[in-house]
Amino acid sequence: MSTTTTTTGTGQRDPAERESTPARSSAPQDTPPTPKPPADDAFTGDDLPSPPGATRALLRSLLAPMKARVGVTTLLLLLQQAAVQAGPLLVAYTIDRAVPAFRRDDSGPLIAVAVGYPLCALLSGVLQYAFIQASARVNQDVLLDLRGRIFRHAQALSLDFHERYTSGRLISRSTTDVESLRELLDEGLQELITVVLSFVYILATLLWLDLSLGAVAVASFGPLYVLVRMYQRRAGRVYGIRSTAIAAVIVKFVETVNGIRPVRAFRREKVNEREFAGLNHSHERTNGDALLEMARYVVGSRLVANTTVAAIVLWGAYRVASGSLELGVLAAAVLYLRRLYDPIDRLGMFLNSYQSAAASLEKVAGLLAQTPSVPEPAHPRELPPARGDLPGREVVFEDVRFAYRTGGEVLPPFALTLPAGQTVAVVGATGAGKSTLAKLLARFYDPTDGRVLLDGVDLRDLSTPALRRGVVMVTQEAFLFSGTVADNIAIGSPDADRADVERAAKAIGAHEFISSLPDGYDTDVRKRGGRISAGQRQLVAFARALLADPAVLILDEATSSLDIPGERAVQHAMSTVLKGRTAVVIAHRLSTVEIADRVLVMEHGHIIEDGHPAELIAGTGKFAALHQAWRDSLA
Ligand SMILES: Nc1ncnc2c1ncn2[C@@H]1O[C@H](COP(=O)(O)OP(=O)(O)O)[C@@H](O)[C@H]1O
Ligand SMILES: [Mg+2]
Repeated sequence: MSTTTTTTGTGQRDPAERESTPARSSAPQDTPPTPKPPADDAFTGDDLPSPPGATRALLRSLLAPMKARVGVTTLLLLLQQAAVQAGPLLVAYTIDRAVPAFRRDDSGPLIAVAVGYPLCALLSGVLQYAFIQASARVNQDVLLDLRGRIFRHAQALSLDFHERYTSGRLISRSTTDVESLRELLDEGLQELITVVLSFVYILATLLWLDLSLGAVAVASFGPLYVLVRMYQRRAGRVYGIRSTAIAAVIVKFVETVNGIRPVRAFRREKVNEREFAGLNHSHERTNGDALLEMARYVVGSRLVANTTVAAIVLWGAYRVASGSLELGVLAAAVLYLRRLYDPIDRLGMFLNSYQSAAASLEKVAGLLAQTPSVPEPAHPRELPPARGDLPGREVVFEDVRFAYRTGGEVLPPFALTLPAGQTVAVVGATGAGKSTLAKLLARFYDPTDGRVLLDGVDLRDLSTPALRRGVVMVTQEAFLFSGTVADNIAIGSPDADRADVERAAKAIGAHEFISSLPDGYDTDVRKRGGRISAGQRQLVAFARALLADPAVLILDEATSSLDIPGERAVQHAMSTVLKGRTAVVIAHRLSTVEIADRVLVMEHGHIIEDGHPAELIAGTGKFAALHQAWRDSLA
């Protein structure tokens, strides 16, 4: 966990309320004949492409640790199928052997059948029970692993990824997409193995019973194969779109809830409702499309199945009449055929969940294949020992250029040296590049060109713990995590005890308001009564930074929510936090500039003025003008 007190605006609420996968049985919607809202492909494009083979590799890596258990599970199913498929054979045996023997007063074979039949049923029941238990355990472990991987990976990815991907899509990956894999594992996979196994058993038995009858059944597999392939291709596309569509629904939902204040303030409810209904509809429509594909498949496969049964009955009847086939064999063959084609509808169901899971897994694989754009160093370096008398660390921007992934260059070739222990105020118009400078110093991004050095060490080479200990950034948002106020202050300093936490809060001037909360430092910040104002949140963030005690502290408009009457308290809090370290204070309030040793005025990524505050105020530059305007506004 980093000690940085920043969010990128997507303060995630409880993703706990999960969106469940829509029931597949839902009837196709009576879709209104409205023009297609933003074509489904429009948001398909937003998803990360998964590199070829990534999905299969992901599945393999998920199953690899449980090879043995997967083997046992498969064996159980093999045995269970053998027990199930013995039924029709016993029927053939009864008609052709046991009944004639009974006529000859030999009741042995009939008794054997009477005992054997229920025994097979019992055996198959016991084996199925064992199989369900074993496979459920495997499935649980796979899903646990996958969800953990998604979380860890999402947390490890860099800021520029989160700016593009949005929290809603991440939630969708770890809920609906994991859920569709669960469906495949829980129902689909068993279904597939059962179907394949029974195909093999049945065809082998049919061929053994009678070669020509078996051959007719085998021939029917040609058209069935074509049907399956066709279904797979078409349904695959539909399910890809569907998984994107449900993600779009969740994204809209999360965005609206996260932005509920501006939604209210600008009365966006109606517009949102319309947009949401559109997304909801296109998701429903893909569900309808999926069902349609399924229906086509079922109709086609039944046609093939029934035609084959008719052919076998005719051909078999002719041969029984001409005496070249025993009646019992024909009866068994027809029974087997029913068992052969019955699961074909269910095979459709399986392909259904397979397609849905494949589409989801592909999206998850695409996410997991992302590499952080701000990678951990291969050979991490530590900071050299602090240089004796000087508190803080020296910061150097060495010919740094920077452009965000989207958009032009924000920092043109840029050079800046901040001596250890200096407090630097950065001012400039919105969009001048102040926050970008701060984010480069906190290594939220790496420069496109050049280096940022901390006591001579390139931030790219600095070990993550050293970086997080070394540089802390406090922003306007002052995000609070669920937990108590004390937990929130101690977030960057896991070793701190209660006394340390209180000392930090007192130094900042936050002790009084915290003590007045219902449970003081133990107040849960997310519960009713623990509601904390924006200004108070910033005080908590200051206390957090003070306790983390970094060598370099960045405050990016971190005092903007504090009330003007609290100004003196703010000044006091600021000078407490800044003492004994290198500090970069981005301030829109000029009073905070007075405590700085140096002022930088930025414009379009350039530093246009650089000097001691008093010196700049006395001059005739931008800062002097700004300062004069501010003075006048106070008068
Ligand atoms: N995440 C981002 N992606 C793309 N462009 C960005 C991003 N953040 C900032 N910018 C652009 O970079 C420029 C500088 O922004 P910023 O450093 O935030 O300015 P300041 O903090 O001085 O207001 C602006 O033009 C802004 O549009
Ligand atoms: Mg800014």
